[in-house]
Amino acid sequence: MCGLLYPETEPVTVLVTGAAGQIGYALVPMIARGVMLGPNQPVILHMLDIEPAADSLKGVKMELIDAAFPLLRGVVATTDVAEACKGVNIAVMVGGFPRKEGMERKDVMSKNVSIYKAQASALEQHAASDCKVLVVANPANTNALILKEFAPSIPEKNITCLTRLDHNRALGQISERLSVHVSDVKNVIIWGNHSSTQYPDVNHATINTSSGQKPVKELVADDNWLNTEFISTVQQRGAAIIKARKLSSALSAASAACDHIHDWVLGTPKGSWVSMGVYSDGSYGIQPGLIYSFPVTCEKGDWNIVQELKIDELCREKMDKTAEELIEEKTLAKSCLNSLPMFT
Ligand code: NAD
Ligand code: LMR
Repeated sequence: MCGLLYPETEPVTVLVTGAAGQIGYALVPMIARGVMLGPNQPVILHMLDIEPAADSLKGVKMELIDAAFPLLRGVVATTDVAEACKGVNIAVMVGGFPRKEGMERKDVMSKNVSIYKAQASALEQHAASDCKVLVVANPANTNALILKEFAPSIPEKNITCLTRLDHNRALGQISERLSVHVSDVKNVIIWGNHSSTQYPDVNHATINTSSGQKPVKELVADDNWLNTEFISTVQQRGAAIIKARKLSSALSAASAACDHIHDWVLGTPKGSWVSMGVYSDGSYGIQPGLIYSFPVTCEKGDWNIVQELKIDELCREKMDKTAEELIEEKTLAKSCLNSLPMFT
């Protein structure tokens, strides 16, 4: 079909790292079923994990074959990073060490940054030149930044991180509060880091009602709730899930990863935006050189930051606080990887 980023006649090769883990296990059937790239797009799955998980990874491959997905045109299950990255059009980087109860996401920094340095080089050498990358593994923004630094030939606009889960969590909280369908809520924003400093912002969010679009702020009519409980619930949702499940979120993370790639590749609906962690170009005064979550619209495989939104004082303060944390993480990542000639 014309107008599509990928012609549906050819399969798109999608890499999932950490594919034997919890998110991987939820994500690969979604991709094979067309949730990520649409119901007519054939896919080839490349699944990477590490040697101790090799048997489990083989089991996932067996299950994919047994599920007889019509769109699935091939499966590679490997512990060889070069083989996994070969010719991939989309890379979903989930592999890594998840945080446990009581840890902050940056506590998993030293374990994960070195993985992202190594895998950046493999993507640089073996992936398709227009490969789009989504980093899910925590600390997601900083892992994405490292990947960008060590894969300089991948265009910086092609390297992103997942904050769509936080965006969806914000939609979910508003929908619950107002007893409206979640698909009638739009244009929330997650600013900054995928961490407890992120700023979930509803200043521009609206609800689709029988009498047109109404601002969320008008319908909620409780600024105190919006400025306190709503924000902390979204910021702390990952921790709440870890406390409840003793494992970090998986089905919602996998679903959000599909949403992120789906909208990036197939476009956002007219009049609405989504949140993506992208390389800052200095928009809204956010220091360039950070991977920061912004509101973006997508068209034909390209994203653009929504410009000229009014930023009030509270918003400015919170946007800067989460940027500061990203600057600290960048410094910490630098010290974890002490031989980083290209890291500026
Ligand atoms: P998990 O432990 O169940 O799975 C991780 C998998 O990665 C394991 O199978 C492990 O063997 C594999 N792995 C480890 N090192 C690897 C390497 N070098 N190469 C390839 N694979 C490797 O964890 P999970 O629950 O699936 O979570 C994965 C990551 O996603 C964690 O970092 C978690 O914190 C993060 N996460 C992010 C979000 C988000 O919104 N950004 C949401 C949920 C979880
Ligand atoms: C989440 O937001 O659920 C994940 O990032 C897992 C975590 O560590 O909170």
